[in-house]
Amino acid sequence: MRLLLCCLLVLLTLPTSQPHAQDNAGLTIGFVSMGYSESEWYVAVHENFKEEAGRRGIHLLFAEASARQGYVNAFRYYVEQNVDAILLVPFASPDWDELLREAQDAGVPVIIIDRMIPVDESLYLTFVSGDFVDQGRLAAAWLAQATSGVCQIVELEGTAGSGAAMQRQAGFDDVLALFPQMEIIAAQNGDFMRPGGEAAMSQILATIDPADICAVWAQNDAMALGAIDVLKNAGLDPGDDILIVSIDAEPDMLRALAEGDANATVEFSPLLAGPTFDALDQYLAGEAVPRWIPIRGGIFTQDTVAERPAE
Ligand code: AHR
Repeated sequence: MRLLLCCLLVLLTLPTSQPHAQDNAGLTIGFVSMGYSESEWYVAVHENFKEEAGRRGIHLLFAEASARQGYVNAFRYYVEQNVDAILLVPFASPDWDELLREAQDAGVPVIIIDRMIPVDESLYLTFVSGDFVDQGRLAAAWLAQATSGVCQIVELEGTAGSGAAMQRQAGFDDVLALFPQMEIIAAQNGDFMRPGGEAAMSQILATIDPADICAVWAQNDAMALGAIDVLKNAGLDPGDDILIVSIDAEPDMLRALAEGDANATVEFSPLLAGPTFDALDQYLAGEAVPRWIPIRGGIFTQDTVAERPAE
């Protein structure tokens, strides 16, 4: 009887299915991304992939490329090595089809991360990213509500031609179209970088009276943080004199919210590795994988930032 009870207990405590973390153990995966820290968000993405790969026992080959040729070299190397999958975090550039076709011909699945590229749909397994249009809409909706639909806006734009910049702008404009008294009075490119945001804001302040600016809308936190520095140096009180709304919810921006220097940031979690590796599990198990794995996020304001759960 005691033996029977013991066996029953063992059976009851056995896991019914293996957790995902075990499933990709032993795989070799090639990762290629931008070779410069465009923003803290990118740094966090890279860290997340390295940590999650370590947790799952994946051998992650990691390449950071600063130009197209670097991508091509790393990508071809991974194909030659016959890795189990390639994770591509692309930058805005045309002509990816040929490269992705080489991987397909070699039987190596490719997952595109963060920014979509103009590429034949049959050449990649899935796309893991946020809904950039939605992020832009959320930022504009918050601003419309905070200003009762009356606001002269300065826009700091991300890298020209990138999906993140174009789609965030499109989403923001969608909402603006509903509010005739909200308008963008100046727009400058800041390349998604903090120094870019500083330079863009300085140029704008050289031509526009700050009293005419109701809000700065930056397509990412890094540029917004650069703009905040410039506004402060000009003796202004960002977060109060001029509203600041942006995207990412990176730690420095959450601090700026808590300190009253910014007003809202739409969350784009950099924790993309888990959903990416899970999708690969599904594929390797012969299961269908959706074309797009959307990463959803909310919005943080000065009021809600304190409630954010610790990561
Ligand atoms: O493509 C995603 C965007 O690029 C992030 O929001 C931004 O911070 C990054 O540089």
